[in-house]
Amino acid sequence: MMILSARELCATLLDTVADRSVLIGYSRLGYRLRHRSWAPGPPPGALAGRTALVTGASSGLGQATAEGLARLGARVILLVRNEERGLRAREEIRRAVPESEVDVELCDIADLSAVDGCAARLTTRHPVLDVMVHNAGVLPAQRSESAQGHELTLATHVLGPLRLTERLRPALAGSRDARVLWMSSGGMYTQPITEDLEFRESRYRGAVAYSRTKRLQVAFAGLLARRYAPDGIGVHSLHPGWADTPGVADSLPGFHRVIGPLLRTPAEGADTAVWLAATSPAPESGRFWHDRRQRPTHYLPGQHDDPARLQRVWARCAHTAGLDDR
Ligand SMILES: NC(=O)c1ccc[n+]([C@@H]2O[C@H](COP(=O)([O-])OP(=O)(O)OC[C@H]3O[C@@H](n4cnc5c(N)ncnc54)[C@H](OP(=O)(O)O)[C@@H]3O)[C@@H](O)[C@H]2O)c1
Repeated sequence: MMILSARELCATLLDTVADRSVLIGYSRLGYRLRHRSWAPGPPPGALAGRTALVTGASSGLGQATAEGLARLGARVILLVRNEERGLRAREEIRRAVPESEVDVELCDIADLSAVDGCAARLTTRHPVLDVMVHNAGVLPAQRSESAQGHELTLATHVLGPLRLTERLRPALAGSRDARVLWMSSGGMYTQPITEDLEFRESRYRGAVAYSRTKRLQVAFAGLLARRYAPDGIGVHSLHPGWADTPGVADSLPGFHRVIGPLLRTPAEGADTAVWLAATSPAPESGRFWHDRRQRPTHYLPGQHDDPARLQRVWARCAHTAGLDDR
């Protein structure tokens, strides 16, 4: 059994109270309260010689994560859907980290055939991949569909990332310590797993669609941890708290206005992703993290994902994403 000192116990209690209060834990207050008690993070050069892919890296948390990984010495691939925004992000990262090696790869992660093309190009250029961060995110106010006719938040947060991971599995398996990260959201606590994945039977609400797919990311990370364990690939999910990004300003303007001064910087929001990618020893696979600490996947005692429903939903998503065809 681990014995905690009085100081560690106090820090753990404060951390947990902040987490359950949501406002303190998720805002910049939580970050500032906690980061003082953290052990030293990964040293400079911790990711030297490693290759990291970050989706949705043209702004906000994705760009900040890519910059954080580059600071630790990783060669970084920015997966973006808009070339101009991708090149701008690359310039900003290179300015902040002058010695960094940063590539831009075009791909609409919600489009399954674009994902196939992207995976083929990446495999040729980067036969070994060490870190993959599934960060791209959307919160559309109206129901919309991807190129293959799937509801867009499901396609962006779940189907496309599942397919990309599977297609790049050989490259990840070539790493001696591969880590796949899923940038979920604290919003996932508000929604259970449901079977109307595409909002074909129930009324679409953007925040509900967003939170359901963020819940799926966390639940699937647990399943993927087992699927990829034989290849030594670790899978981790996390939430960043509330950070000031273009996504929050555009999709949640009321929230952004009210909570604005309490929002984290993008770098603070990205901190746990960068830490999970680089910390040593590797964190336990399949867990959910926030502010460098493992978090519960449900807040209320006795709550859990219905295992039979999770299996059915997994089977449908895996089939749609093409995971069972190879
Ligand atoms: N900020 C927060 O407080 C917060 C809280 C909880 C969770 N998160 C999660 O953190 C992640 C990043 O969010 P953010 O706040 O940084 O928002 P953001 O600034 O809007 O960034 C989202 C990124 O995803 C990209 N993207 C969206 N759809 C894509 C697609 N189909 N293909 C490729 N790229 C795509 C966007 O590209 P474009 O530039 O082309 O639009 C953008 O670069 C999201 O998964 C979000 O759910 C954020």
